[in-house]
Amino acid sequence: MNKVTVLCLFGGVSEEHEVSLTSARSVLSVIDRDKYAIVAVGITKEGRWLLYEGDVDHLTKEEWQLYATKEVFLQPSVSGAVLKVAEDAGLSLSFDAVFPIMHGKNAEDGTLQGLLSLYGVKYVGCDCLSSAVCMDKATTKMILKNHGIPQAAAMAVEKRDIEAMPERLTAASEVLGYPVFVKPSASGSSCGVSRVNTPAELLPALHKALKSDRRVLIEEYIRGAEVEVAILGNEELFVATPGEIAPNSEFYDYETKYYTDTATYHIPARISATATAKVQSYAKKIYRALGCRGLARVDFFVDGERVVFNEINTMPGFTSISMYPKMMEASGISYPELIDRLVTLALS
Ligand SMILES: Nc1ncnc2c1ncn2[C@@H]1O[C@H](COP(=O)(O)OP(=O)(O)O)[C@@H](O)[C@H]1O
Ligand SMILES: [Mg+2]
Repeated sequence: MNKVTVLCLFGGVSEEHEVSLTSARSVLSVIDRDKYAIVAVGITKEGRWLLYEGDVDHLTKEEWQLYATKEVFLQPSVSGAVLKVAEDAGLSLSFDAVFPIMHGKNAEDGTLQGLLSLYGVKYVGCDCLSSAVCMDKATTKMILKNHGIPQAAAMAVEKRDIEAMPERLTAASEVLGYPVFVKPSASGSSCGVSRVNTPAELLPALHKALKSDRRVLIEEYIRGAEVEVAILGNEELFVATPGEIAPNSEFYDYETKYYTDTATYHIPARISATATAKVQSYAKKIYRALGCRGLARVDFFVDGERVVFNEINTMPGFTSISMYPKMMEASGISYPELIDRLVTLALS
């Protein structure tokens, strides 16, 4: 049997570079090597593309670059793009599809997807437009408002507004009722997100968010369980059983996500059958409205039977213990099978 060659990209010029290494370690350790040949390329935080020649175990923040010394670049060609090795002009590595196992900016936001589309490359996940829209929370909210999806009331503010009229913003934010959440429009892993309890805390939170993006959302606080749902598919959609995260901290911030072990995870989510059905049906509607393909994880707040959309991730955390694969597993699709289905969807 001829193997399908998958170019796995990991790392990236992103705040979520380290998260990507963990996701890539999981994917590369379980992908079916009888069916797939792998070419692995790491993108450094500075943006260099390096061929990774180490074992899966060395895919750590400290070590991976020790095993990645050859600079590579994508080169378009009439028969599809190839990977060229800079130091060896004669060497071209061909592949059938790209699996971008990367999160956040320069990874999940349409930039990479645009480049791959331009070069005629097939890849796992959403296309350029859908990735870009889903990465930007202000844009996502605008589109979903038109589709009647319940969401937190919010103000989107630009860097120049924050700098020019901070007092007016503070006064305007009171309409939302405190506490409010402040978050960069395009970010992930809770980078730059703050819960703001009093108007006096607003400005520092805005400046913190500005470190990740020049557009910032000030959002009404929504009470409720954090419920996520995984979707897989292009035309025909598979919607998994929703899961729930109980951060057991002030909110689900970066520390809680990756460093402390206070959070507990529940699959299925501890919500009523009616709320479950609502979450799944909204998730499907949202996926289609935003033009998603391949996969996405849609996140909500659920309070009784009230379901409020929070955000969508087009390349959600993808380690074998991350919510997306876990929800799929609980719905009958094992982690190796999930990877196989994603590559198949990319090729189709
Ligand atoms: N409007 C809100 N009401 C209540 N909690 C929120 C709100 N927005 C965000 N949060 C909390 O902050 C966390 C991170 O925010 P989120 O919008 O999911 O950004 P990210 O893309 O960084 O994950 C959420 O998981 C939740 O705990
Ligand atoms: Mg989130």
